[in-house]
Amino acid sequence: MTLRAAIIGYGKMGQIRHEAMNRHGGFDVVCACDTHANFDADIPLVTDPTRVYDYDPDVVFCCVPNRMIPDVVCDALERGKHVFSEKPPGRNSDDVRRMQAVEARHPDLVLKFGFNHRFHDAIEDAKRMLDAGTMGDLYFMRGVYGKAGGANYAQNWRNDPSQSGGGILIDQGIHMLDLFLMFADHFSDVQSVVQRKFWTDVPVEDNAFALMKNDAGVVASLHSSATQWQHKFTLELYARGGFISVNGILSASGTYGTEVLNVALNRLDQDGNPIPNPESQEVRYTEDHSWDKEIAEFHAAIAEGQPVRCGTSQQALDVMTLVERIYAADADWPGQIAATATAG
Ligand SMILES: NC(=O)c1ccc[n+]([C@@H]2O[C@H](COP(=O)([O-])OP(=O)(O)OC[C@H]3O[C@@H](n4cnc5c(N)ncnc54)[C@H](O)[C@@H]3O)[C@@H](O)[C@H]2O)c1
Repeated sequence: MTLRAAIIGYGKMGQIRHEAMNRHGGFDVVCACDTHANFDADIPLVTDPTRVYDYDPDVVFCCVPNRMIPDVVCDALERGKHVFSEKPPGRNSDDVRRMQAVEARHPDLVLKFGFNHRFHDAIEDAKRMLDAGTMGDLYFMRGVYGKAGGANYAQNWRNDPSQSGGGILIDQGIHMLDLFLMFADHFSDVQSVVQRKFWTDVPVEDNAFALMKNDAGVVASLHSSATQWQHKFTLELYARGGFISVNGILSASGTYGTEVLNVALNRLDQDGNPIPNPESQEVRYTEDHSWDKEIAEFHAAIAEGQPVRCGTSQQALDVMTLVERIYAADADWPGQIAATATAG
């Protein structure tokens, strides 16, 4: 089945999605919409999002800044279009609830959010190994995801809370939180420290630390940073019988290194105590298949009625609620900045 697709927001992600649709082959991208005219495209371009419907798309890809996401998603669903939307799903959990309300009125339509990290090969392999049960109960997870805030930090829409809803946590840390939720389901306890260290005049956090625990006692610690001058992705999963770590993540920028998975199973001494530093095995992944697998899942959901496994609106709500709880858990973090900014 070939699906006619329109892309609203033809910046970095809009173009990445376009390339992935071309590789998939089951999409015909019929137009794109962007207010920024200085780019080349071999498809019709419009500047008003409502004009994409002149091209009669079956699906809409929503790749605009966070503030616009709920309006674009709800409008597309109301017009009877399937929707693939970038993360984060808006600026706050109310935005997600608004989209869910419209989704509920259109149960025949597919709505999927782009939490692509779940589709990375190393992450999928880590999940398979833990689910197999050989390692026993998961004890704790440690995640570090950080980058250098970069040029035009103060001017970037990502750091304008009226556009984004927050800073590095909602922009990048949200991916790690989504992975934590995939492994631990729900956190009943949340503690945090949220800070501005370098860009003290910009009203969003450039660092967030969170310590979380679920009802089964699984602990997760996150450090999400815009002052990680050397880009870094690390996810460690420690279980009773060994550990799995993922270092590096394949990305469009290529700045987080090769994806390397290490896995080790404990061996016990004669008294039953784990012998320190068990031998580990390393797997290196060199190609990022996450965009293609995401697009394939979206297509299969529409064309074959397959369930959406990653990026459901419930998962979107869960992770946005967790982001809000992390902001709220630091009594010293001026949460009113984001609250005021997102009210408009
Ligand atoms: N899954 C991922 O790993 C990932 C990575 C990067 C970004 N994202 C998400 O993708 C979305 C877009 O991010 P990006 O990096 O592509 O940003 P970007 O700034 O490169 O692209 C956004 C585009 O939207 C356009 N736009 C703004 N207002 C518009 C309007 N009213 N009508 C039409 N177009 C408009 C801008 O001109 C710009 O070209 C964000 O929500 C971001 O969080 C996801």
